[in-house]
Amino acid sequence: MDTSYVRIFDTTLRDGEQSPGASLTSAEKLEIARALARLGVDVIEAGFPAASPDDLEGVRRIAAEVGNPLPGAGELSRPAPIICGLARANQADIDAAWQAVQHAARPRIHTFLATSPIHMRYKLRMDPEDVVERVREMVAYAHSLCADVEFSPEDAGRSDPEFLYFVLGEAIKAGATTLNIPDTVGYTTPEEFGKLIAGILAHTPGIENTLVSVHTHDDLGLATANALAGIRAGARQVEVTVNGIGERAGNTSLEEVVMTLHTRRAIFGLETGIDTTQIARTSRMVSNYTGIPVQPNKAIVGSNAFAHEAGIHQDGMLKHHNTYEIMRPETVGLNRSRLVLGKHSGRHALKTHLQELGYDLAPADVNLAFERYKQLADKKKVITYADLEALVEDQVYQSREVFSLDGLQVTCGTMGMPTATVRLRGPDGTESVHAAVGTGPVHAAYQAIDAIVGVNASLLEFNIHAVTEGIDALGEVTVRLQAEDGPSLQRTSAQNGRVHARTYGGYGADTDIIVASAKAYLAALNKFLFAAGYPQQESQAVPAAEMPA
Ligand code: KIV
Ligand code: ZN
Repeated sequence: MDTSYVRIFDTTLRDGEQSPGASLTSAEKLEIARALARLGVDVIEAGFPAASPDDLEGVRRIAAEVGNPLPGAGELSRPAPIICGLARANQADIDAAWQAVQHAARPRIHTFLATSPIHMRYKLRMDPEDVVERVREMVAYAHSLCADVEFSPEDAGRSDPEFLYFVLGEAIKAGATTLNIPDTVGYTTPEEFGKLIAGILAHTPGIENTLVSVHTHDDLGLATANALAGIRAGARQVEVTVNGIGERAGNTSLEEVVMTLHTRRAIFGLETGIDTTQIARTSRMVSNYTGIPVQPNKAIVGSNAFAHEAGIHQDGMLKHHNTYEIMRPETVGLNRSRLVLGKHSGRHALKTHLQELGYDLAPADVNLAFERYKQLADKKKVITYADLEALVEDQVYQSREVFSLDGLQVTCGTMGMPTATVRLRGPDGTESVHAAVGTGPVHAAYQAIDAIVGVNASLLEFNIHAVTEGIDALGEVTVRLQAEDGPSLQRTSAQNGRVHARTYGGYGADTDIIVASAKAYLAALNKFLFAAGYPQQESQAVPAAEMPA
């Protein structure tokens, strides 16, 4: 085992996605999994296959398509990531996980059972002896199917260390190859958590041949600090999510751990396999697909993370960037402020710039992006990388279209009732027009869309912001909604077993913010409609998830 290498285990698609409000379609999960593989994560926890048939199918597709080397990839290329599926400690869950991950070149089953007194007593209603027995049986069962088995004692942060050493030792005997130590409720402090990991490494029988992993939650804002304390104590796998999304206050964020290990190499002396220049792009993709915005002051990936507003800072930056900048924006893939294209740039220049940003589009999509770029260039003098990203993401991040926006007109202001007239094209190509009033132009547009689509949707979240500075900036909108759905669209939570309805995120960008708002809303509705079995439009362009990476 290389002791200077820290494995990055990404659980954006499982712990991140399980958080209420982040549910993704299987096509989006596949696209995110591809981005994670490009980012260079070692393990992708692709989901909780027992949650629903759709979840199982999503993990199976990721295992088959992202968990295998690309055809023609030489021996020197990176191996495909390990694809992992989560399972509670019961045979049905483990079978579902195996059914899904076995299609990967390197499959892993991750099973867990709680070990803290409070969880054993009130959640599991099991005695500690029965917990140990179940761990033995279920780790052995998982191992009989899959050589690579990870075991997590849930709520380890509040478990008795002596009991943990014993349970973990039994899990190792039963075949566990990775032991993941979760601070499930984000309760511990860095000092405590580091001590817990050191104790496990010192006192667990058989630990020498297993990898110790850390998994921390951010309820007290200590997730990254705790994960790093665990790494300092000897853990060599860290479980993270992009943008830190996850249950309640979220999980340890990938970008924070990776950039700390990178920026403070002199202290940690540890490597990861991450291509840091892919961080910003992956962060945007996760935010756009989940509809969960990144707070502006979020470390590494927030829109202000590299902004130097105060005059004194700007002065220092002009003299030497190290005065206030500990990382270069380029290192995380941010070069968004540079002027890239003008009104007269051609299709080839656009394609080259898109490739630089990591978008390798099919010719038909380049043509569509070029048309949209020309329209934007007529409205906006300066087009930056940030604009190009928003433009192309508005195109490639759209789900399969069941309804598409064909026209929108609004009247609003102080002199009357805000009214919107919307024209949509439906799955069979027919156009429908509807006018509606609302409390404002966005509300009126959403009312008109609802009337045509005929779905009862509740808007849970609406966010809008300008992509760049300047009055002619593109506006980006993300929304999250819930629609009345049947049981087939519900899923079971891995941790509390509760069944909850899915939510759907949508993204739209346009110089007209009402148009951007309508696009985002329709994108989210389309995801719901597609999941509910509506046919997509016949003339649909290649869906994002099926585009070559
Ligand atoms: O937080 C937690 O305990 C988990 C486990 C399933 C690893 O997510
Ligand atoms: Zn967790």
